[in-house]
Amino acid sequence: MKPNQTRREFLLGSTALALTLFFGSREPLHAQSSSSFDTPVAIPPEDGGTLVDGVREFTLSLQSGKTEFFEGVQTDTMGINGSYLGPVLRMRTGETVRFDVTNTLAIESTLHWHGLNLPASTDGGPHQPIEPGGTWSPSFKIHDVASTMWYHSHQLHQTASQVWAGLAGMIIIDDEVSDDLDIPSTYGVDDIPLVLQDRRFNRDGSMPYEASMHDEMAGMSGNVPLINGTVRPYVDVSTEKLRLRLLNGANASIYNLAFSDGRSFVQIASDGGFLGQPAEMSELLLAPGERAEIIVDFTQNERVILESKALGGRRGGGQGMGMGGGMMMAEQNPQFQLVEFRAADTLEPLAEVPDKLAELPRISETQATKTREFLLEMPGMGPLRMLGMGGGFTINGNAMKMRRVDEVVKLGETEIWEIVNAGPMIHPFHIHNTQFRLLDRDGLLPGPNEAGLKDTVVVFPGERVRLLVRFDHYTDPERPYMYHCHILEHEDAGMMGQFTVV
Ligand code: C2O
Ligand code: CU
Ligand code: CU
Repeated sequence: MKPNQTRREFLLGSTALALTLFFGSREPLHAQSSSSFDTPVAIPPEDGGTLVDGVREFTLSLQSGKTEFFEGVQTDTMGINGSYLGPVLRMRTGETVRFDVTNTLAIESTLHWHGLNLPASTDGGPHQPIEPGGTWSPSFKIHDVASTMWYHSHQLHQTASQVWAGLAGMIIIDDEVSDDLDIPSTYGVDDIPLVLQDRRFNRDGSMPYEASMHDEMAGMSGNVPLINGTVRPYVDVSTEKLRLRLLNGANASIYNLAFSDGRSFVQIASDGGFLGQPAEMSELLLAPGERAEIIVDFTQNERVILESKALGGRRGGGQGMGMGGGMMMAEQNPQFQLVEFRAADTLEPLAEVPDKLAELPRISETQATKTREFLLEMPGMGPLRMLGMGGGFTINGNAMKMRRVDEVVKLGETEIWEIVNAGPMIHPFHIHNTQFRLLDRDGLLPGPNEAGLKDTVVVFPGERVRLLVRFDHYTDPERPYMYHCHILEHEDAGMMGQFTVV
């Protein structure tokens, strides 16, 4: 604020500025790199629930509300215990949790615990809808190790619109391994949750879910990145290192994350927990549904921006797809400046990242007793599509059907799941109720940051990715779990299947 400005003048001025910056030009938004990062990032409240007779109980309410993304402008949104997104739910390995989820919305919804091993009846997928006014109370034991997971609506055919509106949040699981590691762990200070999304705002500040035919194909992406629901935010850095818990909570955008000065960082955890050892890198591809924890070094007084860069020379550029493949892929990967880091005059020193993080079980495909193939296909493009030809969004030729169970898997058996992408777009493939391991991509070993526990894996056009999969804890011959593309428009359009564990 300039010294002789009143607060009100300042607010009016900055609202006008924000709206002009975002909507005053015909340039694509990512070209407007000159506007400043002037809002401290929102840090979601931590919610550790309450312990009742040894059970950790959470009270969650799905609600609609208004959110001020731009100063002085109210946008209709949905959230969990708030107007947009939800609290960071914090729990420990080995304990039993219970959620009382009340749906105060006017529409049916669900809440799915993405990444967790749990009974099918508690999964929160399309088979566990919560009616308006209803309360759903799943309870289960936490089997997963220390990790960054998440929760979101999984309503049949409406996951995309409901997540877009804001029905999502982060989960942090702690355990003895995370307690003992000398890594940044002060929430909101040196251990920062960052939910990365983008939303398409109109000039009046509204962000309705209005997917065109093209959006249904390509997935809904936005013109404004939101970080924990904050537009153009900054993070104050007071320590020499930050641990960032990154969650791609976008409907469709794949972020290729890098810092504006190209600095390297280490990834310490993937979807399901710590890597065996830190993986040094300077670019991190994060697709919808995926999480990564990274540790970044800072020096005093500096400013640096976390960006989503073009995928560039990465593999899978639509080979064999003809024209259009590369174009579709480029569209999946918007270029944005996401969040600025502002280091203080003096930074508190922190310990070096340990060389060894966790003991990961050794994997070998000789353990596998069965191989299943999952062929991901999407509708034909252009004229074929106009003629209604070329099928829909399918897995093994089938679009999701609530009453069809596609696969039956035996408890505790190790299997190889081969995911084959026959289309022109990248599909992040997600499996419920498990943390799997990557065997290979087209026969090549996964990079070090993909060598750990995963529940969502990027599959490039034309690629075959082999996973080692096992379901360890629960059987239920009646109720299925899901596997699907985590581009929410593709999931809603049918690129999803069901399996039971028996
Ligand atoms: Cu993140 Cu089936 O969901
Ligand atoms: Cu899931
Ligand atoms: Cu997809």
